[in-house]
Amino acid sequence: MLESLKSVVDLKPFERDRTARRLSKAANVDDLRKIAKRRLPAGVFDYIDGAAEDESAMARNVSRFGDRTLVPRVLRDVSNIDASTDILGASAPMPLIIAPTGFPRIAHPDGELATARSAAEAGIPFSLSTMGTRSIEEVAEVCPGRKWFQVYVWRDRELTKDMLARCKENGFEALYITVDTAVLGRRERDVRRGMSLPPKLGLDTFIDGALRPGWTLDFLRNDPIVFSNVAVSTERLGNSTADGTSAVSLADYINSQFDPRLSWDDVAWIREQWDGPVILKGVQSVADAKLAAAEGIEAIALSNHGGRQLDSSPAIIDLVAPVADAVGGEIEIYCDGGVRRGSDIVKAVALGATAAMIGRPHLYALAAGGKQGVDQVLEFFLDGVEQTMALSGVGSIGEIDRSLIG
Ligand SMILES: Cc1cc2nc3c(=O)[nH]c(=O)nc-3n(C[C@H](O)[C@H](O)[C@H](O)COP(=O)(O)O)c2cc1C
Repeated sequence: MLESLKSVVDLKPFERDRTARRLSKAANVDDLRKIAKRRLPAGVFDYIDGAAEDESAMARNVSRFGDRTLVPRVLRDVSNIDASTDILGASAPMPLIIAPTGFPRIAHPDGELATARSAAEAGIPFSLSTMGTRSIEEVAEVCPGRKWFQVYVWRDRELTKDMLARCKENGFEALYITVDTAVLGRRERDVRRGMSLPPKLGLDTFIDGALRPGWTLDFLRNDPIVFSNVAVSTERLGNSTADGTSAVSLADYINSQFDPRLSWDDVAWIREQWDGPVILKGVQSVADAKLAAAEGIEAIALSNHGGRQLDSSPAIIDLVAPVADAVGGEIEIYCDGGVRRGSDIVKAVALGATAAMIGRPHLYALAAGGKQGVDQVLEFFLDGVEQTMALSGVGSIGEIDRSLIG
């Protein structure tokens, strides 16, 4: 009887590492999201997970990827799959970029440092936000890999200029100008909760925090979360721009600090300050893509900010083919919003994108398991791209074209 019991019982060795144990239950991005939801206070989870108004742009971003089908070719030797590609003239193991996101340290105390390390190990470009919670210098110290910086244009131009100088001094390769945030979108989950950044420890947060002791202890034990990039530049310049030391509502902060007069003249001004590649992030029309190409911009990121700005904006995957038809030969095209699986990356490339980018997926992963979580989500994407390619009968990224789309 013992023998027959042995033959059916499969006792795996107990995983001692709690994070690894937790992550072993996740098979995809949605599972990581569920773990993040369990671990984060509701206000923090909603800040990351939420979007503008009815959240219809966010839902469309995801569902329109699902609506696209692939037409697999069969009986092709797919024993060697190579998902590598060139992004801005350098090789990457797959057509994927980590999108810039503000306040990652509210997801996990290691924040950008964990994500940047993981991206460097995987060979994926990492993007740091102006509204980051680790500075340009701190990221450079831990990330020998490709680093890109995302800049918002401040009313105080000296602040923008100083951040660009710091990027140059610290080996950042490319610069995004985010152009979809002239004012902040109305994120109604944050409005309802009175969400501030960093989160205020009010009564609600205390009750919620008590239910998530792991997050609360990390939050209290670690150094305060501030807008690190702003803090370093304000100190260097000796000016008094708020750096997040006091809690603020994101809408009040952005609407008072960012310049809503942002125009093509400012893009030209930034190009004078920065001699590396520039990516315009937040382009959502063929007309603007053509203007960007005419300005000699190196790349555009088709993006509606993950549905967090204009809720009536188009699903991003629907923009890729028309934009690629208009400017594909002249400019690199990235796209983000709703990329949740390797197959989404393959679809984006098939329609004409150079690479796709991920926002929320890496934040869910960070919240679920710090750097180990980000390692895992990057593995999901690489495995997903390779498996989709094998099942579609394509061996290399160069072979992927529109004939693959159903
Ligand atoms: C919590 C959060 C913060 C973000 N912060 C920024 C930011 O500071 N700058 C920026 O250009 N985009 C920001 N974004 C937008 C992302 O760069 C990206 O466009 C978006 O997340 C892509 O959609 P996805 O989340 O569906 O992948 C943020 C997105 C999220 C979810």
